[in-house]
Amino acid sequence: MESIKEKLVNESRTIMTEMIMPNDTNPMGNLMGGYLMRWMDIAAAVCAGKHCGAQVTTASVDHISFHEPIKLGDVITITAVVTRAFNTSVEIYVEVSACDITGSNPRQSNHAYFSFVAVDTKTGKPVPVPKVIPINNEEKKQYESASRRRELRLILAGRIKPSQATELKNFFAEL
Ligand SMILES: CC(C)(COP(=O)(O)OP(=O)(O)OC[C@H]1O[C@@H](n2cnc3c(N)ncnc32)[C@H](O)[C@@H]1OP(=O)(O)O)[C@@H](O)C(=O)NCCC(=O)NCCS
Repeated sequence: MESIKEKLVNESRTIMTEMIMPNDTNPMGNLMGGYLMRWMDIAAAVCAGKHCGAQVTTASVDHISFHEPIKLGDVITITAVVTRAFNTSVEIYVEVSACDITGSNPRQSNHAYFSFVAVDTKTGKPVPVPKVIPINNEEKKQYESASRRRELRLILAGRIKPSQATELKNFFAEL
C-alpha cells in the first residue's frame, strides 16, 4: 500500500479575518459567541482539509471560553494550525485575536482545540491522514501534548476507559 506523505504545519496554516458587523452582535453590541464558534469551525475545517487532503468532519471541540467581549467594528483574526495527526483524525489549534479597525488595542480573545475526522466522500468512512512534522519548539510542544488531550477527550466522549489513557497516566506519574 502507498504510504501517505508527511506534512509540515505551515502547509495547512489557515488565517481568516472578519470585521464585526451589526448582524453579528448581541443586544449589548458584542459579537455573539455562536458566530465566533462558527468562524472558528470553518477556519479549523479548512486547515484540517488542507492537511488531510480529504473531506473532513468535526468530531469534537474542546472547551471554549470567552475572556473579554469583541465589539461591533472590531476586526478579528482566526489562526488555525494542525498540531498532530493520529490515524484518521487530526487535532487543530485555533487562536482568535481582536483589535480595532486601526489595529489599536490588539488582544488575544480565545482559543480552542478542534478534532476532525477525514472521510471518504463516497462511503462516508474515516480514511488515514498524513502525519505532521513539527519543526519549531511551539509545534513540538503542541505535538507532544496532543496525545494527552486526545486521551482526555476520548474519555469524556465515552470512547475509551480512563484505564486505557496511558499517556495521561505517564504524564501524571512524572509530576
Ligand atoms: C466523527 C465520526 C466520523 C467518527 O466516526 P466513527 O465511525 O465513530 O469512527 P471511528 O470510531 O472509526 O473513529 C474515527 C476517528 O474519530 C475519532 N473520534 C471519534 N469520536 C471522537 C471525539 N468525540 N473526539 C475526537 N475524536 C473522535 C477517533 O478517535 C478516530 O480517530 P483515529 O482514527 O485518529 O484514532 C462520526 O461520529 C460522525 O460522522 N459524526 C458526526 C460528525 C458531524 O456531522 N460533525 C458536524 C457537526 S454537526
